[in-house]
Amino acid sequence: MKHLLTIAGSDSSGGAGIQADLKTFCALGTYGMSVITAITAQNTQGVDAVVELDKAMVKAQIDAIFSDITVDAVKIGMVSSSEIIREIKESLLHWQPSFIVVDPVMVSKSGHHLLQPEAKEALINDLLPIATIATPNIPEAEVILDRKITTLEEMEVAAKDIYKLGPKSVLVKGGHLSGDAVDVFYDGSTITKLTSLRIDKKNTHGTGCTLSSAIAAHLALQHDLITAIAKSKDYVTEGIKYGLSIGKGVGPLHHFHNLYNAED
Ligand SMILES: Nc1ncnc2c1ncn2[C@@H]1O[C@H](COP(=O)(O)OP(=O)(O)OP(=O)(O)O)[C@@H](O)[C@H]1O
Ligand SMILES: [Mg+2]
Repeated sequence: MKHLLTIAGSDSSGGAGIQADLKTFCALGTYGMSVITAITAQNTQGVDAVVELDKAMVKAQIDAIFSDITVDAVKIGMVSSSEIIREIKESLLHWQPSFIVVDPVMVSKSGHHLLQPEAKEALINDLLPIATIATPNIPEAEVILDRKITTLEEMEVAAKDIYKLGPKSVLVKGGHLSGDAVDVFYDGSTITKLTSLRIDKKNTHGTGCTLSSAIAAHLALQHDLITAIAKSKDYVTEGIKYGLSIGKGVGPLHHFHNLYNAED
C-alpha cells in the first residue's frame, strides 16, 4: 500500500483541505497521513475564522511521520505564512520525498484569503521550485504572474511562465473559466490540454484540494504525470456529478462515488 501525506489546513465542514485530501487518498486505495498547518472554521457558505499552527508544530508533525513511515508522495495545500512555508521547504529538502504536488492555495471558493499577502513571495520562491507539479487555478496563476488570464491561449502562456519559476511541471486549472473544464499542463517541452464536460452543479467545494491529492496518489501508484492528471480529473468530474446535498452553500463532491450511492 502506498503512503500519502497531505500538508494543509483543516476544513471543519469536511469538504476541502485535509479532510478532502484524506478522503481522496482513501478512495484511491492509499494510506493517508496529515500535517495540519492551520485550522479553519468554515462551512459550505464561507470561512469564519482561521488559526495558524506554530511552525515548530508543523515541523514536529513532518518529522514524526518521516522518521517512522515511508512517504510515497506529498501534497501541499494551504500554508498561509512565509514562516510555515520555509519550515516545510527545509523539512522536505531534508526528507526528500519522491513526489511533491504543490497546490498554491490562496483564496477559498467563498472568497476568504487563506495565504497572507506577505507569504506570496515565499510561496513562489520556496515552494514552487521543489514541486514535481504545481496546480494553480486561474486566480492563483494571475497572482503568481501579476497579470490577467482570460483565455485558453493565456493559460498556455501562463503554464510556461510559471514553469520558469522552478517547478518540474505546471497544471493551470480552468475551473474558473466558462465552457468545458479545460486544464493546461506543461512539462517543459509539451503543452497538453485536459478537457472534461463542465458539470452544471454547485458541488465544487474542495475540487482543487481533491484534484491535487488525487494527482499525488496516482503518482505514488507509479503513473506518469499525464496519466496521473487524467485519472485525477476523471475522479473529480465524477465526484462533482455525484455531489452531495450537504449544507446551504457550495456543497462537497462525493469522494466515494465509486463505493456507494449517496442519494438523499
Ligand atoms: N463545474 C465543473 N465541472 C467539471 N469540472 C470542473 C468544474 N469546476 C472545476 N472543475 C475541474 O475541477 C478541477 C479543480 O479546478 P478548480 O479550478 O475548481 O480548482 P480550485 O479553484 O483550486 O478549487 P478550490 O476552490 O476547491 O480550491 C479542475 O480539473 C477543473 O477543470
Ligand atoms: Mg484551489
